[in-house]
Amino acid sequence: MSKKKRVKFIDGKKIAAEIKEEIKTEIANMIDNDIKAPHLAAVIVGEDPASQTYVSSKEKAAHRIGMISSVYKLKADISEDELLKTIDFLNNDEDVDGFIVQLPLPDHISVDTVIDKIDPAKDVDGFHPVNVGKMALSQASYVSATPAGIMELLKRYNIETEGKHCVVLGRSNIVGSPMSILMSKKTNPGNATVTVCHSRTKNMEEYMRSADILICAIGQPQFVKADMVKEGAVVIDVGIHRLKADNEKGYRIVGDVDFEEVAKKASYITPVPGGVGPMTIAILLKNTLSAAKKEFYQ
Ligand code: GUN
Repeated sequence: MSKKKRVKFIDGKKIAAEIKEEIKTEIANMIDNDIKAPHLAAVIVGEDPASQTYVSSKEKAAHRIGMISSVYKLKADISEDELLKTIDFLNNDEDVDGFIVQLPLPDHISVDTVIDKIDPAKDVDGFHPVNVGKMALSQASYVSATPAGIMELLKRYNIETEGKHCVVLGRSNIVGSPMSILMSKKTNPGNATVTVCHSRTKNMEEYMRSADILICAIGQPQFVKADMVKEGAVVIDVGIHRLKADNEKGYRIVGDVDFEEVAKKASYITPVPGGVGPMTIAILLKNTLSAAKKEFYQ
């Protein structure tokens, strides 16, 4: 009788630490050669606690590897025009190599208008239409950090993707949509046959059960159950949710996947926390280093 293989955990925390160490070494070399350290700026509008946590994590991570980091905190009721002026200022500040505008933005501000205003050469989030277009055309560009981080995990774990059926749950501009494009590209990882499932998909579970690689970015806590996953599938969990718990903190962090149950069937799985999350910051820092080196734009 064949013995069932044990699931392998994809350690995003470890890989992210490796990437940050690689960048740190490169920055130390730059400084030794009298080249200015890369500078990442972040714009945050309002007091959304999750956004504040993300931005302060990015800032700390940048400092730890020797980058310069600055944060522009704007009031929730700032006008769109004022925000656009701040972006213009950062576009023209020669000391700033790359910057991000933390999302979500308040309802009275158009996300599209704001992203359009960012100089594509400084768009280290990879959200500007020029960068999204270049990515879709397989041209070198900044790629949205979460999907780029997932590609890096698949690469560093040598997970075979060619010819596999990859099912992406979710079609957001930041994760689902770029993820589906990257996985379908003539690259390694990539070369997969991709299905995108979303809120209007009929028989979603049928698609999910046929997935060799299941990428879950649906934004619902523990949505993906064991009976929706094929035996031996690779399961990547993008979700981060707080669930009430009877512990000191009063909550625990879970993903879009019912980890305990799904881990019994998967060949590889990303934990939450410690899977995809840490990779997002590592890739943002990598993009900022690319910006400082003018890898994609002169
Ligand atoms: N909000 C959630 N994720 C992100 C991200 O990667 N970048 C920005 N700017 N905002 C976000």
